[in-house]
Amino acid sequence: MAQVPPQSDQESATKSASDDHILLPKQSQLKDFMSTLPVREGWSQPLIQYKRYWFRPQMLEKILQVQDAYKPRADDIILATQPKCGTTWLKALAFTITNRSRYSFADHPLLTRNPQHVVPFIEIPGLGTDHTDIETLPSPRLLATHMPMSLLPRGTTSSCGCRIVYLCRDPKDALVSRLHYENRVVKGCNLSMDSAFSMFCEGFSPYGPFWDHCLEYWKESLARPDNVLFLKYEEIMADPVQAVRALANFLGVPLTKEEESSGVAQEVARLCSFETLTGLQVNQVGGVDRGNKVYLDNSVFFRKGKVGDWTNHMTQEMGGKLDHIVQEKLQECGLVF
Ligand code: A3P
Repeated sequence: MAQVPPQSDQESATKSASDDHILLPKQSQLKDFMSTLPVREGWSQPLIQYKRYWFRPQMLEKILQVQDAYKPRADDIILATQPKCGTTWLKALAFTITNRSRYSFADHPLLTRNPQHVVPFIEIPGLGTDHTDIETLPSPRLLATHMPMSLLPRGTTSSCGCRIVYLCRDPKDALVSRLHYENRVVKGCNLSMDSAFSMFCEGFSPYGPFWDHCLEYWKESLARPDNVLFLKYEEIMADPVQAVRALANFLGVPLTKEEESSGVAQEVARLCSFETLTGLQVNQVGGVDRGNKVYLDNSVFFRKGKVGDWTNHMTQEMGGKLDHIVQEKLQECGLVF
């Protein structure tokens, strides 16, 4: 694979996602194609750059595979995130909201199943033990992805009409969460905050540049607000009950007056809270061997669940530097953290 030097100025996310044309090699030639792409070391595994984004090789291969394999449906709901931005929380909330007529809170699937396992990823088959091929799932499907908007399979965006919920997070907290995650799940990995910080600031991180990933979905949410809802981790944390209402409205299943008066929004927020989920045995024991020296404990998706934990791991100066970089990248787009 071609080695590239660190890059500080990646191609910016100025095109709308649907402008990006993905010229795909045949599935049988994916590995050969990937071997022509830039590769860089630094994180727990080398990352490959494709269309300005950095991926673990096995993840990029899956992203390329689903370009053909995933057949979007108009009533699909896609939960899109960068890793460590609250995917688990969003899965729990969206699953509970969209299935609330099927399950009672006293006997709810989330009491015995990790939220990661109740909503399958489009591009990550087999995470957990109970994923079925997403093409066999009945409509409406609730799916998740970490793919950048511009790499969503053709047809997922404007022409399909499916709904996308994007959740992002203060990049400082996302970076701290990422660092802990890498060091925990990858055997032998002992990345320092300093090196993770400088790579992240260059836009070199799994699924990064962080800001480009956010920006693509942000722009799409402005262009097509009925199809793309843009949420922030910090906003859900500030008012989870309101976030439940907003999600229910966007997903076309608003809370009824009866549900409002019986406190359903509060129940959903409570069931999906960090405190409730981390108190459940299913989220404390067990896990999945993902290969490549990666073992995912069910508990690995939960750490502190706090806003602002970065202050315990970075200096104020580092925080200010990252804020400044992100502000520059996002300036004039109206997106602030
Ligand atoms: P921290 O490492 O900062 O604690 P993802 O699900 O995208 O991998 O993101 C993981 C981050 O979300 C972790 O952040 C984790 O603790 C937090 N998280 C998981 N479930 C949560 C919940 N129900 N409420 C709030 N935060 C949650």
